[in-house]
Amino acid sequence: MADQSEKMRAVVAPRPGGPEALEIELRPRPVPSDGEVLVRVEAAGVNRPDVHQRQGHYPPPPGVTDVLGLEIAGEVVALGPNAGSHRLGAQVTALVPGGGYADYCVAHETNALPIPSGLTAIEAAAIPETYFTVWTNVFDRGALKAGETLLVHGGASGIGTTAIALAKAFGARVIATAGSDEKAAQCERLGADLGVNYRKDDFVALTLRATEGRGADVILDMVGGDYVERNHQAAALDGRIVQISFLKGPKAVVDLRPIMTKRLIHTGSTLRPRSPAEKAVIAEALRAKVWPLLEAGRCRPVIDAVFSLAEVAKAHERIEDAEHVGKVVLTT
Ligand SMILES: NC(=O)c1ccc[n+]([C@@H]2O[C@H](COP(=O)([O-])OP(=O)(O)OC[C@H]3O[C@@H](n4cnc5c(N)ncnc54)[C@H](OP(=O)(O)O)[C@@H]3O)[C@@H](O)[C@H]2O)c1
Repeated sequence: MADQSEKMRAVVAPRPGGPEALEIELRPRPVPSDGEVLVRVEAAGVNRPDVHQRQGHYPPPPGVTDVLGLEIAGEVVALGPNAGSHRLGAQVTALVPGGGYADYCVAHETNALPIPSGLTAIEAAAIPETYFTVWTNVFDRGALKAGETLLVHGGASGIGTTAIALAKAFGARVIATAGSDEKAAQCERLGADLGVNYRKDDFVALTLRATEGRGADVILDMVGGDYVERNHQAAALDGRIVQISFLKGPKAVVDLRPIMTKRLIHTGSTLRPRSPAEKAVIAEALRAKVWPLLEAGRCRPVIDAVFSLAEVAKAHERIEDAEHVGKVVLTT
């Protein structure tokens, strides 16, 4: 049993600001409650929502720690009451509502999965946030099927690289947009059938050309703003557009006609505020359908850079300079 009285390092942003607003504090180790496990964190993924939280735009849901970090990998060192699905010493990766940027973190046992065999803790820590998000949005809400076409914006992002990998692994065609020729080419090297530099080329025209005029069956969008109307133009008959963020703004003027004539479904979702039980449903789908692919090497998280916990400000700078391809990870 871990000594709960010991202090640990934890990263917080007491005041909104740039990467320099991040501070490492000494905090008591968290104590696992009912159904939770305590994990000694070996690696923690860094995600754009952490940047939004640091900037003061994305506060943790009620009751969740102010320590940053949405995903971890490490060793189970204590079990809370009624937690029985992971043994002490097990190596797990977990989706957490907060608290990942620390030496220790609690996770609901149903939101933790064994580290896929053959993957390092760094790779495993890069999985939960984007794999849960892509699964629930592209495959659940978007119902992407083999033979269909996925258009993913931000193709070089953590989310984008995961969407490319999973859509290809499940037999879809993938068009990915990114902000430079180099990043568009990188998307193609990662498996996308077409990478589009949106600063130079019109993704609507290129999507229609690549699909013989049909359009994309599913569009995963984190951009919003004027992309809303353009996504409707790029969508196929019965297309599904799934909104997961709005980097260009939450409001748009929309021509409603394509929604009606093409019978489009425009939906969206957030992951963090969902209950552990809702996240457990996604975890079980991943365990059954995606873990075997990870263990067979048919998909793998793309690691852009690794920083120590003490270098957390550099990790956020790396995310914000938008030069990264894939995931940034912290190690303790
Ligand atoms: N709804 C959910 O459940 C959920 C869950 C997780 C993440 N998210 C959201 O998904 C997005 C991606 O997360 P991530 O961690 O993968 O982020 P990330 O790796 O930092 O990637 C974000 C990418 O978006 C592109 N971008 C930035 N500003 C843009 C703009 N104004 N117009 C067009 N593209 C822009 C950049 O790529 P280029 O330079 O190539 O354009 C950047 O690499 C974030 O907005 C995050 O909040 C949502």
